[in-house]
Amino acid sequence: MAVLGCGVVGSQVVRLLHEQSGDLAARVGAPVELAGVAVRRLDAPRDVDVPTGLLTTDALGLVTRDDVDVVVEVIGGVEPARSLILAALENGASVVTANKALLAEDGPTLYEAAEKAGRDLYYEAAVAGAIPILRPLRESLAGDKVTRVLGIVNGTTNFILDKMDTQGSGFEEALEEAQALGYAEADPTADVEGFDAAAKAAILASLAFHSRVTAADVHREGISDVTSGDVRSAADMGCVVKLLAIAELNTSDSGEEAVSVRVHPAMIPREHPLASVREAYNAVFVESEAAGQLMFYGPGAGGAPTASAVLGDLVTVARNHRQGTRGVGESAYADRAVLPMGET
Ligand code: HSE
Repeated sequence: MAVLGCGVVGSQVVRLLHEQSGDLAARVGAPVELAGVAVRRLDAPRDVDVPTGLLTTDALGLVTRDDVDVVVEVIGGVEPARSLILAALENGASVVTANKALLAEDGPTLYEAAEKAGRDLYYEAAVAGAIPILRPLRESLAGDKVTRVLGIVNGTTNFILDKMDTQGSGFEEALEEAQALGYAEADPTADVEGFDAAAKAAILASLAFHSRVTAADVHREGISDVTSGDVRSAADMGCVVKLLAIAELNTSDSGEEAVSVRVHPAMIPREHPLASVREAYNAVFVESEAAGQLMFYGPGAGGAPTASAVLGDLVTVARNHRQGTRGVGESAYADRAVLPMGET
């Protein structure tokens, strides 16, 4: 297997691959051997010791090697990640990715490539860090009808709003702390302006409602206009401010179903379970017809929690690959309308 990227998440993936090699081999049924780690610069400082012989700047050469049967992509961003994933699938490898921006922009191209290649494409780490939420939506709830998904899916903004609420921190100060802790994106505008949450909301909505929702379909408003005064006023009213992602299945009077998705700051009463989601934790509420209400909660950002989700996918796809089987694909879509920009 090969890893693309050795940043906050990639370095933790490499560390866990090394530290847990025995357990991983037992769970997969064969050793998981690291063939290489593709990086932009060989001499960049990194949080893990990678044997020099494994580092390469030739990512395309690495993913198309005959001995690479699983590729883990943790570079982030649309390109070159998309081209590398497509090349890996075409070359017969299965892919694990944490790339929410790419999936939300062009997921169908990747799903179709995986389908055509007969390989797995797994991406649990793309939404809500360590929290297992995508597989429950795609598999466990496949026999139910999900009607609403409501969540805090960006750790950085939750961290900032929490520090503003509980410690009276300023916006910039809290953002710097979130960056230092490895929660924020390379460009934190993606967090602060809600792009990251919108990408995750699109992925959640696609799986929850078996529809094709892209980031462009999501009404998006970030937290850059939320002031300390807003947070204090909310507190005076017994509320906290949270950046919420809301995806709903609406049914018109004539029985037509349509999906709407939006991301915006909202005031939540302190007694609501989402109000107690602190620091960079995430939580996702799912409402469905038969199950009722479900809540998923856990660390939503950071290298090790995100690497946990990556490694979970890695075990599944490596085992499938070894056994010549595949997991659940993405080809079955209901023909549901997606309302423009979060209209309801
Ligand atoms: N920047 C993201 C966040 C990382 O803060 O949630 C996890 O996707």
